[in-house]
Amino acid sequence: MSSCCQSKVDAPGTFQELVQNIREIFSEPEINVEKTKQLMASYNSKPEEWEKYAMFDKNIPYSRNLVDEGNGKYNLLALCWNQGQGSSIHSHSNSHCFLKVLQGSVKEEMYDWPSDPKLKTEMVPRKVTIFEKNQCEYINDDIGLHRVQNPSLAEGMVTLHLYTPPFPTCKVFNPDTSEESVGKMVIHSRFGEKVTN
Ligand code: SIN
Repeated sequence: MSSCCQSKVDAPGTFQELVQNIREIFSEPEINVEKTKQLMASYNSKPEEWEKYAMFDKNIPYSRNLVDEGNGKYNLLALCWNQGQGSSIHSHSNSHCFLKVLQGSVKEEMYDWPSDPKLKTEMVPRKVTIFEKNQCEYINDDIGLHRVQNPSLAEGMVTLHLYTPPFPTCKVFNPDTSEESVGKMVIHSRFGEKVTN
């Protein structure tokens, strides 16, 4: 993984330009974490540009909406989180995960991997961070596990996630016992069209 951070990126003017610029970055053989983070953070989020992907579903905690498949190299997804809802504590299957805030504020709890799941100990976050609109966060399995939440009881939250390479499942953890199970990366809509299961 390259983590070069010197070159400044030009801010994309629109969401579609951001999607296109991400494709360009990922046409390079190396993954440039810092450049991808900078690019995603530099887009100034405007709901009218991405709302066709943002399909909230009040029957589930959050929906996962595919925006781009990046020629099979990555999945770019808009996640729509209902008020006060969040993910499980989860891993990222040896992939890179970038998370940009499109709407609202994100509460991220970061965890260490359980040292021994057989001990059935409670999981305690090692760090809690609030990310504001337009900020971009990065995590991988070497950094740790996380849980993402919408702390607002008033407003839905929308986040843009880039996973490279894409992965079909991850590990999810019971916060009370640290026991692990398999979580499926379900997709609820593709390119603005609802998926019918
Ligand atoms: C998800 O993609 O379902 C969870 C969010 C994350 O990985 O940060």
